[in-house]
Amino acid sequence: MDKKIKRIGVLTSGGDSPGMNAAVRAVVRTAITFGIQCVGIRRGWQGLINSDFVTLDGAAVGHVLDRGGTILYTARSEEFMTDKGREKAMATCKMLGLDAIVAIGGDGTFRGALAFSRMGMPVVGIPATIDNDIGCTNYTIGFDTACNTAIECIDKLRDTMQSHERCSVVEVMGRNAGFLALYVGIAVGATAVLVPERELDFERDVVERIRNARLAGNTHFMVVVAEGAGSAVEIGKQIHEAIGIEPRVTVLGHIQRGGSPNARDRETATRMGYFAVKALKEGRSNLVITTRDGAIVETPIEEGLQMKKSLQMDRYEVLEAVGISVPRV
Ligand code: F6P
Repeated sequence: MDKKIKRIGVLTSGGDSPGMNAAVRAVVRTAITFGIQCVGIRRGWQGLINSDFVTLDGAAVGHVLDRGGTILYTARSEEFMTDKGREKAMATCKMLGLDAIVAIGGDGTFRGALAFSRMGMPVVGIPATIDNDIGCTNYTIGFDTACNTAIECIDKLRDTMQSHERCSVVEVMGRNAGFLALYVGIAVGATAVLVPERELDFERDVVERIRNARLAGNTHFMVVVAEGAGSAVEIGKQIHEAIGIEPRVTVLGHIQRGGSPNARDRETATRMGYFAVKALKEGRSNLVITTRDGAIVETPIEEGLQMKKSLQMDRYEVLEAVGISVPRV
């Protein structure tokens, strides 16, 4: 890219996550510092098609660092996945005089970014999703806050499960990935955690673990199910059939996506927002701002979309080792 960047658009797309606002703020404030104008595109890629925008100055992003959700709204746009949709979006970019786009979101957002970059619009992606399922980055904005939200809810559930000596089956989000479930499961000391990355052996992974916990003296049990691994309602029914106890089922749902971002998400989002604009200013684009071992690294979008990240099974071993006490013999 040899052209000097004068004006950029920033958007949030896909499922929202805590810390998206912190990233938007960092993009806007960094742009201003570098003498670049910033336009907020509302409702994700669809907003670019619909010419749905708002000019953003430093004041417009005041007091948003601590706010959950996204002040730019978000959407999942099917139209943007078509050539016609992207041509309309390109016309909006021309009309607004945008030299580049910063797109904050997950895999779907980056697939859109890649297609748009191939039409000639420079794009930089910032990974934000509570699922932490983006292959090219160790961390995605919102994951830590979502874990803490789920933990807070499950701690509360445990109080009442303990009083009534019950079994709780809790379904957490994560789409097709088990990161959220595994981290949360370890942090709440779950009896069992079911993740899509590990083939389920119901007898071994659930029934035996509850039995062993019972033999060890536990009178309440916590089973965490990743939504990608199955339905908590179904798992609850199967537990009832196999052991005779009547579990209480809780689907945490969208509550996990809300709330004020915690320190990790504010700090990561702010650094990523800064590095996204810095890359554009220095003439680099069509990349995703990623983290590797705590450092910020630029990864080309095309390469990034092909990268896979696997659930660290050593964490599963940890969970299995400490999730229940060893049965007394
Ligand atoms: O990708 C984030 C996420 O919250 C997933 O964990 C979940 O499967 C999905 O979005 C839910 O999407 P929607 O908000 O469209 O119901």
